[in-house]
Amino acid sequence: MRVSVFGAGYVGLVTATCLASVGHSVICVDVDRRRIAELGRGEPGFYEPNLRDLMSMCLDDGSLCFSSSPEHAVRNSLVHIVAVGTPSQPDGSADVSQVLAVGNTIGKHLTKFGVVVVKSTVPVGTNERVESAIADGLQEREELVPFAVASNPEFLREGKAVEDFLRPDRVVVGARHKRAFNILEEMYRPITSVHGDFLRMSIRSAELAKYACNSMLATRVSFMNEFAELADTVGADILDVARVMGSDRRIGPHFLNAGVGFGGSCFPKDLKATINLASSVGRSMSILSSVCQVNDFQHLTLIERAASLLGDLSGKRIAIWGLSFKPETDDIREAPSVSVIRQLLMQGASVKAHDPKVKWLPLLSSMDQSSFSIHEDKLEAVEGSDVLMLITEWNEYRDVDLGVVTALMRTPIVLDGRNVWRDVKHSGRPYTYFGVGRGESLTQHVLPREMVG
Ligand SMILES: NC(=O)c1ccc[n+]([C@@H]2O[C@H](COP(=O)([O-])OP(=O)(O)OC[C@H]3O[C@@H](n4cnc5c(N)ncnc54)[C@H](O)[C@@H]3O)[C@@H](O)[C@H]2O)c1
Repeated sequence: MRVSVFGAGYVGLVTATCLASVGHSVICVDVDRRRIAELGRGEPGFYEPNLRDLMSMCLDDGSLCFSSSPEHAVRNSLVHIVAVGTPSQPDGSADVSQVLAVGNTIGKHLTKFGVVVVKSTVPVGTNERVESAIADGLQEREELVPFAVASNPEFLREGKAVEDFLRPDRVVVGARHKRAFNILEEMYRPITSVHGDFLRMSIRSAELAKYACNSMLATRVSFMNEFAELADTVGADILDVARVMGSDRRIGPHFLNAGVGFGGSCFPKDLKATINLASSVGRSMSILSSVCQVNDFQHLTLIERAASLLGDLSGKRIAIWGLSFKPETDDIREAPSVSVIRQLLMQGASVKAHDPKVKWLPLLSSMDQSSFSIHEDKLEAVEGSDVLMLITEWNEYRDVDLGVVTALMRTPIVLDGRNVWRDVKHSGRPYTYFGVGRGESLTQHVLPREMVG
């Protein structure tokens, strides 16, 4: 099938590459010409496991190409997938202008029947606005060309995007016309014949389902983080609590990890958009508002712990391990690390950071960066520091010997923001260790206060 994909970001590029890899002929379009040039050279421009190899395979066999010309893409495709950004506006609502702009562009160039698929995460009612934008584009040319719009929200996770796209739990399509359902079912058949169901529903249900999924996942994270605070206070270990909860089949084991909270380009933005959507129709989402509030507080939990151990953080040296919003990606959009570093710098601390993939943080550019540096070597970041904070649970941090690491520090305090060092093993001198919600279960590793003050 001939497919065009608008937007060559995380979702668009993965979608285009994976659809090409299962036998379709795909043209991926982006407004960013520099990006199109780098993609043409086989460079994804961001880190995503397995993407580079799959992309170069598809470029080589001609099933995938990149273009700056929407006209060329629209004229040569039956399915047009919209995968552009829908960032938050100041009031929390999703800015769908990029999606509508693509709709209008498609209308301007459509010459034969096409299915326009909205893959971007958009508020309920946006697909109807896309339909109008396409109609406006057609009207400018005074043409009548039949088309159908379909909602096809994407559920891939960065860091596992290729695997998720090719082995989805389900593919969701909302449409009004049988023809659109059938065409998309055929497009996804190489995938859904092996993994996941093809779920048909109304456009509005598909739009809302995406927000409901992200809201539920974020709720589980904040729920566990709130329990982690309680566990700390009452001397219980949240890992045992999560083990018990996860073994209950009604609850299931996923998304029960306490930590420094969620970030990324989706959860914070989508929760705000859901709250905004509800308020625009006179409803309030009190659970989701609390989820966001708990999460904001959770980003700062390690800083509070450090302050409770060291007092004033001004002049203190903090090492941070992990900058991306989660492992296996270099995406730092709304990453907890950014809130933590910003807060530390504001309190007068200096920060030395390490991340396997993130080598700079543009989001901090408005701040004085003289006391902030990113290091190639994770041990170099730790040398001479007062606290090591683990923010992102990259695998390479899991097996370190904390005795060796803390021997490099001025004050041996380890704050494990992802509970990766569950069974603390160490050689050498003792150190202070705190996870999130580990309560009194780790007191044997805690030094007397006077040794760390
Ligand atoms: N990133 C994720 O993990 C994820 C997962 C599921 C859903 N989503 C949703 O998918 C959408 C895209 O997210 P993303 O992370 O891929 O965004 P992104 O910012 O990485 O990429 C968007 C791309 O669209 C391009 N673009 C903007 N206007 C364009 C136009 N008129 N024509 C062609 N290209 C245009 C931009 O240049 C950019 O390269 C969002 O709605 C997001 O909420 C994201």
